Amino acid sequence: MRVLSGIQPSGKLHLGNYFGMMKLALELQEQGEAYLFIADYHALTSVHDADVLREATRDVALDFLACGLNPEKTVFYRQSDVPEIQELTWLLSVVTPMALLERCHSYKDKIARGIPANHGLFAYPVLMAADILAVQADVVPVGQDQKQHVEVTRDIAIKFNRRFGDVFKLPKPLIRRSVAVVPGVDGQKMSKSYNNTIELFGPPSETKKAIMRIVTDSKTVEDQKDPDQCNVFALYKLLAAETDVQSMAKRYRAGGLGYGEVKKALWERMQAHFEPFREQRHSLVRDPEHVDTILQQGAERARGEIRKTLRAARKAVGLE
Ligand code: TRP
Repeated sequence: MRVLSGIQPSGKLHLGNYFGMMKLALELQEQGEAYLFIADYHALTSVHDADVLREATRDVALDFLACGLNPEKTVFYRQSDVPEIQELTWLLSVVTPMALLERCHSYKDKIARGIPANHGLFAYPVLMAADILAVQADVVPVGQDQKQHVEVTRDIAIKFNRRFGDVFKLPKPLIRRSVAVVPGVDGQKMSKSYNNTIELFGPPSETKKAIMRIVTDSKTVEDQKDPDQCNVFALYKLLAAETDVQSMAKRYRAGGLGYGEVKKALWERMQAHFEPFREQRHSLVRDPEHVDTILQQGAERARGEIRKTLRAARKAVGLE
């Protein structure tokens, strides 16, 4: 089974990234042939500052390696180190109906939020299809918001295969229901663009501040509370052991538990979970060449596979 996922370098990684896709991607590296890449071409649709892009790309590489990405197992690369992906994007573009892209929620949401509609933003799913189809992935672990893009990828692959012959495998999205949506400190989906994130490796004082800012209702300590309506509990549940989650839920329902106390428990869980990764990250920061080498080697491995696919696609359309 070949698994592929990508992440945009659009800033420091946060709990939403971690539980939305990172953790799952890291677990899957034990089960199949894993590919993971930093989607810097995609990031260019929204990041228009060279230094910001460079720094975010570096941060994503560090964060993944620190959290346990094993470059021996996972083919880890930067999208832009594989220019073949661009050529494949074009071959897919010519079989992609406009209407398919016009239906994409992610595009429509961005426009609705006032982001200027550039062509890259519109064509974003075609580039994503190229990422996925290039490595002939079977499974694509993504957050709920990206599910439609994987479905679009399938549609594009079907169109291409029908017209030119069977070149591409049809991939499936893999979404873990319980963690698909991680709430941010304001209760909306945690996302860099909503400015409601809790960063994985931010300064501890900032992390603590962010946790203290998580929005709750205005019940008093004595009131009985519904854990399933609480943003703090939703995050706690992701980090704590099952028995702790159960007993915390009981205390919510019993009354006598204040939100401040749950926030403190969440903070402690978060510290405990990420502390070993933080140390690992510190040592990687001191060795940037090592990180570059990992990405270069990953790109070479990925290109080996991707060139095969591109060759088959070029032949199928008559470029060779
Ligand atoms: N669009 C994805 C996101 O923003 C990132 C991405 C780009 C991706 N290409 C991909 C994810 C291919 C999975 C497979 O999260």
